[in-house]
Amino acid sequence: MRLDVFFGGHQMTAADIQGRVVLVIDVLRASTTVAVALANGARAVIPFESSDEVIARAKQFERSDVLLAGERRMRAIPGFDLGNSPLEYTAETVEGKTVLLTTTNGTVALVGLQGARDVVVASYVNLSAVSAMIRAAARGAADVAIVCAGRDRQFSLEDAACAGRYARAVTRRLANVRLNDAAQACTLLDKRYGDGLDRLFEDSEHGRALAEAGFTADLAVCAEVDAHPVIPIYQDRQITKLGPDRER
Ligand code: MLT
Repeated sequence: MRLDVFFGGHQMTAADIQGRVVLVIDVLRASTTVAVALANGARAVIPFESSDEVIARAKQFERSDVLLAGERRMRAIPGFDLGNSPLEYTAETVEGKTVLLTTTNGTVALVGLQGARDVVVASYVNLSAVSAMIRAAARGAADVAIVCAGRDRQFSLEDAACAGRYARAVTRRLANVRLNDAAQACTLLDKRYGDGLDRLFEDSEHGRALAEAGFTADLAVCAEVDAHPVIPIYQDRQITKLGPDRER
């Protein structure tokens, strides 16, 4: 099987994801926020590129059924119910709601994916749950692509290290695995940081920007490996939790 890592959707062609299982990673913070929202009972998260699209889509729902959510420059969008801090997505706030989410990089990366077999939203907080699902697919000879959302179309350290953690977990002891160079580099980064995610986030540009903007507590949430063991599947333009009510 092949496992390739891509830094940003603009690096890939349609053929790179066609028929593959695709993981999308935006550790800080969109993919963590999606996992927390679904773990805390959100009915679905629908990703959008723009705040205008969120507002237009909200009109198709009863107002009490949806939450308008997202960030620009890390801050909540004026007039929206929630920003992109996973700490805001408590069960009390999100249970039973559909979250309409727009973020600078994470939701844009998701919306751009078409033709994949399965698209799964991955982060550290759902590492083992998602890895187990992808590993099962890889054992069935599925090829895997990992898309790092990055930051403003640039490489980001935390997404790459997390991609490396997934690459290692998914391919461990599997025969006939081929990794592209990006995936091999990501596995080296993961080995370098290991469980030192505090250090990883201190070293990353976006981690530092979040800390400077007052979101240090978010960094701690994003570093909680396996705290929210959900498998968020993006299908039919919405992200829902894989589980007894949604088997594949
Ligand atoms: C994004 O999608 O760019 C991020 O999740 C930004 C953020 O930290 O809110």
